[in-house]
Amino acid sequence: MQKGEETMEATILTMTLLTVGALTIFSLLIDFIWNLLQVSKSLLSPLFLPNEETSLANKYGTWALVTGSTDGIGKAYACELASKGLNIVLVSRSFEKLSKTQKEIESTYSVKTKIIQADFSLGKQAVDSVKEQLGNIPIGILVNNVGKQYEYPMYLAEVPEEELWDIIKINVGAVTLMCRAFIDEMKTRRKGAIVNISSGSELQPLPLMTVYAASKTYIKNFTQALRYEYRGDGITIQHLAPMFVATKMNHFSDKIYRKSLFVPDPVSYSKYAVSMLGKVDDSSGYWAHDIQTFFTTILPEWIRMYIGGYMNKLFREDYLKSISESS
Ligand SMILES: NC(=O)c1ccc[n+]([C@@H]2O[C@H](COP(=O)([O-])OP(=O)(O)OC[C@H]3O[C@@H](n4cnc5c(N)ncnc54)[C@H](OP(=O)(O)O)[C@@H]3O)[C@@H](O)[C@H]2O)c1
Repeated sequence: MQKGEETMEATILTMTLLTVGALTIFSLLIDFIWNLLQVSKSLLSPLFLPNEETSLANKYGTWALVTGSTDGIGKAYACELASKGLNIVLVSRSFEKLSKTQKEIESTYSVKTKIIQADFSLGKQAVDSVKEQLGNIPIGILVNNVGKQYEYPMYLAEVPEEELWDIIKINVGAVTLMCRAFIDEMKTRRKGAIVNISSGSELQPLPLMTVYAASKTYIKNFTQALRYEYRGDGITIQHLAPMFVATKMNHFSDKIYRKSLFVPDPVSYSKYAVSMLGKVDDSSGYWAHDIQTFFTTILPEWIRMYIGGYMNKLFREDYLKSISESS
């Protein structure tokens, strides 16, 4: 090959790589700027257009149903909605925890509540039972928060089969059937909101949490496609993908169980997330997590997967060390 041809080939290759890189950064920036505009509009509109501000109850309806609402994000999200005057339907497994949360919400926020005991690992049976126990209470805001995670980061063959199956039934099954159960009545009323909570783990395949992360990718794709299907029907369909929030789910490592700038407590997380309802379609639900998401998605997927797998190895070591120390 002539020297001139070689130089020409090298130039074409460089130009191609530069163009692909520039296009990738451009498309990420478009997403980021779009989200930034939505967030800025939501923060500024109450100052400049106070007449356009309407309460969540007026906009969507007076009752909200939150799944997995006796602990962590679900409980904090339910309280935040109650603080805005919404009546709350609490759904989770333990009757004791439901009653305690019900009392807390009624005495603090003076709204109506209803408790429904249901175990989403039972699949359709649980969703049918929720509908039946609900009677004719119209749900204006449906928050599909319930989710199951591994006990700690594990290799696939270490996770008990029943646990894997429960993760699929709860994370994939419940969100799907709960949306199916309530979306038609929202469509008829031309009013309502659905909030589906996935996780930052949906951003890439995640070693040592393979099934959990894959189930969260399902939620993201499902929610975005559902929003498209029902566009124009007056329903807000929001996807939230939090990074780490300091809840019991992260008990396996102190690094993510303790509150910090990037690991908010569920109350701070939910305050911000609720303020984004009806304003931002896709969000992490927390300002510091939005920054993390932006910098995470700049990286190629294989690097993100490598880093995610590495972090999970560290969390796994933390957990195994704490177990061996306590025995
Ligand atoms: N914490 C994080 O760092 C984080 C990060 C990203 C995404 N997320 C997602 O955010 C959501 C909430 O997580 P969290 O950390 O707040 O969880 P959490 O603190 O463990 O709370 C889970 C809630 O769900 C209920 N629940 C558990 N299994 C249930 C079942 N089979 N049927 C009905 N209710 C059930 C629990 O009450 P009972 O035990 O009484 O049923 C509890 O109220 C999940 O979807 C999770 O994947 C969390």
